[in-house]
Amino acid sequence: MHKDLREVLLTAEQLDAGVKALGARISADYAGRTVTLVGVLKGCLLFMSDLAKSVTLDTRMDFMMLSSYSGQHSTGVVRILLDLKESIEDCDVIVVEDIVDSGLTMEYMLQNLKTRRPRSVEICTLLDKPSRRRAQVPIKYTGFQIPDKFVVGYGLDYNGIYRNLPYIGVLSEAAIEGNKTCR
Ligand code: IMP
Ligand code: MG
Repeated sequence: MHKDLREVLLTAEQLDAGVKALGARISADYAGRTVTLVGVLKGCLLFMSDLAKSVTLDTRMDFMMLSSYSGQHSTGVVRILLDLKESIEDCDVIVVEDIVDSGLTMEYMLQNLKTRRPRSVEICTLLDKPSRRRAQVPIKYTGFQIPDKFVVGYGLDYNGIYRNLPYIGVLSEAAIEGNKTCR
């Protein structure tokens, strides 16, 4: 375990099984169709890569980058930093997100994507932290429900670090206060 973590919440093996199960559900639900996975950067990176490998359908992948977070707390204001490259008109879209916390980011995404007239839009999130929900968004696919703890790893970061950990863990108070940078 990384020394900045207090505990491991989800091991690499648990993540692997959970992601494969999501891929199997999506493959069954959209049988015969092409799905468009829209990843929310950068948190989706490891999850989307593994999820896509376990989807057995024709699959398109596109990305958006949004900003709403700084440090541990959501600002509640969502801005598009990078937009989709391709049209999603008449497509079956699945938004791929690392974690739904307040729900404000996903509420904004759904509202924004629906204006582009897709055939359908659903949300697939690796983690769901329901205790702090402010916007009630419909989540079709959830990997794991987690308690109200700040977690890192498998795509999730704290100030840009820890995304490469192959498991998900809870950051220690010391690491939160230490506030590492690129040096
Ligand atoms: P929401 O808009 O509050 O639902 O926030 C969603 C975004 O906040 C996620 O896509 C993450 O990037 C970030 N986030 C929320 N909780 C955590 C956490 O525990 N660790 C790391 N990032 C988080
Ligand atoms: Mg995110």
